[in-house]
Amino acid sequence: MPESAPIAYVNGEFLPLEEARVSILDRGFQFADGVYEVIPVYGGRPFRLDAHLARLERSLGEIRMDLPLGRASFAQRVRELIARNGGEECQAYLQVTRGAAMRNHPFPNAVNPTVVMTCTPVHPVPDEWIREGVSAITAEDIRWARCDIKSIALLPSVMMRQKAADSGALEALWVHEGRVAEGAASNVFAVFDGRAVTPPDGHRVLPGITRDVVLELAETQGLPVGTGEIAAADLERAEELWITSSTKEVLPVTRVDGRWVGEGRPGPLFRTVLEAYRARIGELRAGAEEEPT
Ligand code: PDD
Repeated sequence: MPESAPIAYVNGEFLPLEEARVSILDRGFQFADGVYEVIPVYGGRPFRLDAHLARLERSLGEIRMDLPLGRASFAQRVRELIARNGGEECQAYLQVTRGAAMRNHPFPNAVNPTVVMTCTPVHPVPDEWIREGVSAITAEDIRWARCDIKSIALLPSVMMRQKAADSGALEALWVHEGRVAEGAASNVFAVFDGRAVTPPDGHRVLPGITRDVVLELAETQGLPVGTGEIAAADLERAEELWITSSTKEVLPVTRVDGRWVGEGRPGPLFRTVLEAYRARIGELRAGAEEEPT
């Protein structure tokens, strides 16, 4: 990323991040009445942009909003934002809220949605995390019952990721009724008897795009990876544990609540999946067109 000032997008305008403003009456600020996306960018190219915009449109639909622009113009603006920031390896953040109106819970009658986008440089995942794995804690899932919506209301995740950080862990894994749903900002995969499973779609899990990429790669390459429930009580006997997200890609978790996972090292299936994932990103960096998703 260049040294020049970062550029943000606010409601149709590109402007220096420092000058970017929204109203204090914005319902995102007042009620967390909005949704968001985080899109990883490699070599200046957004990865799975279509899928992220499709998920954004779905999240908006679930809160009775439309995508404020057509998908094609949205995509074009995301690309322009990346280009204006000289973003090679970065992440694009998109947020859409219901807009600014006097504070009252029901939807206002006439209101324009607020669309905000930023682009932030990212540092590659440290090699040590891949070599040694990272730590996680488990936590009772205190979130709402519509975790499939990528809502900007993230207080439970903020609280729990801080608790994780306080204990030297990277991620918190939400446990709902005895099952591991997902991480505070990631999806989760556990390996039992040589096969990796990730909880299926439902109201307790965000349909993660990185998770879908892993499932697709596994299917094409005939790897033993699919969907299935993960009982929290079974974590003790998991051979491997991974988390996936747009910012962390695929990461091995080798300690949970202070106990080793499997042999306490990133496992062989993780290595195969990471290799496939990185090969896919390598193609994107090299200029391969993204297949529509
Ligand atoms: N979070 N589950 C939750 C609760 C998440 O917040 C995220 C991503 C994921 C992984 O989804 P994806 O693979 O599409 O990034 C799963 C983003 C990165 C964030 O909040 O910063």
